[in-house]
Amino acid sequence: MIAVLEERAFPLRELRLLASARSSGLTVPFRGRSVPVQPLDERAFGDIDLALFAVEADLARDFGPAAVARGTTVIDNSSAFRMDDTVPLVVPEVNGAVLEGCAGPSLIANPNCSTIIALMAVTPLHRAAGVERMVVATYQAASGGGSALLAELEGQIEDHAAGRPYRMRALDRPYLFNLFSHNSAIGPDGYNTEETKLLKETRKIWDDPRVRVTATCVRVPVLRAHSEAINLTFARPLAEAEARRLLARAPGVSIVDDRAANRFPEPVLASGGDDVLVGRIRADISQAAGMGLDLFVCGDQLRKGAALNAVQIAEHLLKGEAGTRWGRAGAAVAG
Ligand SMILES: NC(=O)c1ccc[n+]([C@@H]2O[C@H](COP(=O)([O-])OP(=O)(O)OC[C@H]3O[C@@H](n4cnc5c(N)ncnc54)[C@H](OP(=O)(O)O)[C@@H]3O)[C@@H](O)[C@H]2O)c1
Repeated sequence: MIAVLEERAFPLRELRLLASARSSGLTVPFRGRSVPVQPLDERAFGDIDLALFAVEADLARDFGPAAVARGTTVIDNSSAFRMDDTVPLVVPEVNGAVLEGCAGPSLIANPNCSTIIALMAVTPLHRAAGVERMVVATYQAASGGGSALLAELEGQIEDHAAGRPYRMRALDRPYLFNLFSHNSAIGPDGYNTEETKLLKETRKIWDDPRVRVTATCVRVPVLRAHSEAINLTFARPLAEAEARRLLARAPGVSIVDDRAANRFPEPVLASGGDDVLVGRIRADISQAAGMGLDLFVCGDQLRKGAALNAVQIAEHLLKGEAGTRWGRAGAAVAG
């Protein structure tokens, strides 16, 4: 988030960094200065216009509404408020218009990273042909599970190189040279919460309670950037060539689809970039002509799946009525 604020020259007078007591004493470079990390305390929001939250849902529930009560607009990355009817759930390229209702200090939710990456690619096709059903299989990176899961994979890489047994702290199974069903809770219907989020969040963001979504979410030993195989069923026919034309002009989407060279989206190509990469674009031969399409997408879940999307929401607000009221100290990043 800090890097994205800096790269995009987000206009702010002061950046305040808030984390746990574990981070006390740390400083983070920002615009040529060292910004100290302070303990998260709701009083820190007293003169802050905008707060970007990157903490677990429990903490977001504790501090988000408290910050709004102090006049701060909060953009929250956790799942705490995503399905709250009073909270906009926003991917600016998809449903940025819902931010027009945010005049005063507000809470706004950033969607789940897999949902953002899927909808960046699928929404232009949905607008043209009406997606009735979406089947998703994810290949999710370690950093999507936070710093602890990233450290788990990096630690096992070191263990492997040193020829010693793998340290297992965050997981009860090896992560290196393995893949496993997403490490979120499984509900009584057999779906884990990551899979359920893809369904519920897609319906909310598209404002379409009828769209059918089923997902299988899997962690893979990739450090950064999520990949997703997506199968679509349309209400109206959409030729593959037209799908390619729509994707080629979709903001925030880049086509990587070189059949001759067998070159398609890969996590290493998406890592560190802003665009969601889309390839393997092909008519689904199991469906009637034009009624189905297959895609393979990769997106940096730390950037478009989290930090970049949050800062884009803030940029949208800045242009609207909310932004005209801002002018206190600046922005805070919590987490
Ligand atoms: N990682 C992703 O790709 C991704 C994508 C989309 C959404 N999200 C969501 O974003 C949120 C943060 O995820 P993450 O991956 O950034 O997790 P993370 O790497 O584990 O970072 C968690 C942050 O929370 C802070 N924190 C923990 N306990 C705290 C406390 N008691 N008081 C104040 N700060 C505290 C930590 O500060 P310390 O370092 O001081 O402990 C750390 O900065 C989660 O809700 C996650 O679901 C993550």
